[in-house]
Amino acid sequence: MSGKLCFLASVLLSMSTVVDLAMAASGGVNIAVYWGQNGSEGTLGETCGTGLYAYVNLAFLSTFGAGRAPVLNLADHCDAPSGTCASLAADIASCQAAGVKVLLSIGGGALGYNLSSPSDARDLAAYLWDNFLGGGATGASRPLGDAVLDGVDFDIESPSRFYDDLARNLASLYTRAPRPPRGGKTYLLTAAPQCPYPDASLAAALATGLFDHVWVQFYNNPPCQYAAPGDASALRSAWAQWTAGLPAATVFLGLPASLDAADSGFVDADTLASQVLPVVEGAANYGGIMLWSRSYDKDSSFSVKLQAALQNRNKPTGAGASSHTKRRICKWLTFVYSEFLIQYVVLHYYPSQLQFYN
Ligand SMILES: *[C@@H]1O[C@H](CO)[C@@H](O)[C@H](O)[C@H]1NC(C)=O
Ligand SMILES: *[C@@H]1O[C@H](CO)[C@@H](O)[C@H](O)[C@H]1NC(C)=O
Repeated sequence: MSGKLCFLASVLLSMSTVVDLAMAASGGVNIAVYWGQNGSEGTLGETCGTGLYAYVNLAFLSTFGAGRAPVLNLADHCDAPSGTCASLAADIASCQAAGVKVLLSIGGGALGYNLSSPSDARDLAAYLWDNFLGGGATGASRPLGDAVLDGVDFDIESPSRFYDDLARNLASLYTRAPRPPRGGKTYLLTAAPQCPYPDASLAAALATGLFDHVWVQFYNNPPCQYAAPGDASALRSAWAQWTAGLPAATVFLGLPASLDAADSGFVDADTLASQVLPVVEGAANYGGIMLWSRSYDKDSSFSVKLQAALQNRNKPTGAGASSHTKRRICKWLTFVYSEFLIQYVVLHYYPSQLQFYN
């Protein structure tokens, strides 16, 4: 019987775990996630509303440079060329109000982009500033309507030049006093290089020292990713190079959010919390983790599991505290149950005594 009561106690306790989860995002790890490449991953507003993420990268501005008109591609979510992505402005505002930074990621795997010259880089920087950040463009020319994003993310996956020029031009525009009502914001530069150091596409840009956060892709790259099970040596030495090489940035461990999200490099949430994060989080400029992508994370609940695993791990007395609570609930239930039993026995077998008491 006490076993059954204690099962009930466990149920009550796991309900309190749900409450814990709501607090995990603040007490757990900072997660950056890519959103935009799968219409069934839920809206941007829902994504931010989970409370799981600190940064959302809109993926991607996939066409730009060398004379191409820039095109924002958010898959089935909306169609930027016909103006329907402007409706995302309300979601972006709700994300920002909840403290989530929303960035425009340029590049991606489709490789419909490159830069042809320093002036090409200058033109793109001006376009990004005017149409997505604090610059002056208004109305229909802004693909995301009145939204003012928090910065630009470089996910450049094919080696080419002039991204250092792009970073310098953006950083210089960031220091401009934006027109009201866009004043007072701090804009970010972030990047997603591959883990072989230095990155073939972004080395020159990163060497400017202008990037705030760098989420390194520790996947699809066996020479530098975590070699499950238990072999972190390749990751450890690549991580040391990245964190030492980017002293002015915070560095994030980029991972697939499920087995399907990449060809290799997936680490389950418990192993990440117990085996891999201890390898990386000692770095002074460790920032958190990055996930590709919201779509996979939604299906696998990777972030939910990770935040829960960290919540337990970060409470050294957690297991003790939790079984202490369990014991208290058990004791209380046993008390209530035995009171009930006494009443029952008295009512059934000694009704006369009851009269007497009355
Ligand atoms: C989008 O996500 C759904 C649900 O997980 C999946 O079935 C589908 O294959 C994905 N589509 C693409 C293009 O990745
Ligand atoms: C950029 O892409 C265009 C079109 O694909 C190509 O003609 C050009 O050579 C490329 N430029 C550089 C610098 O890679």
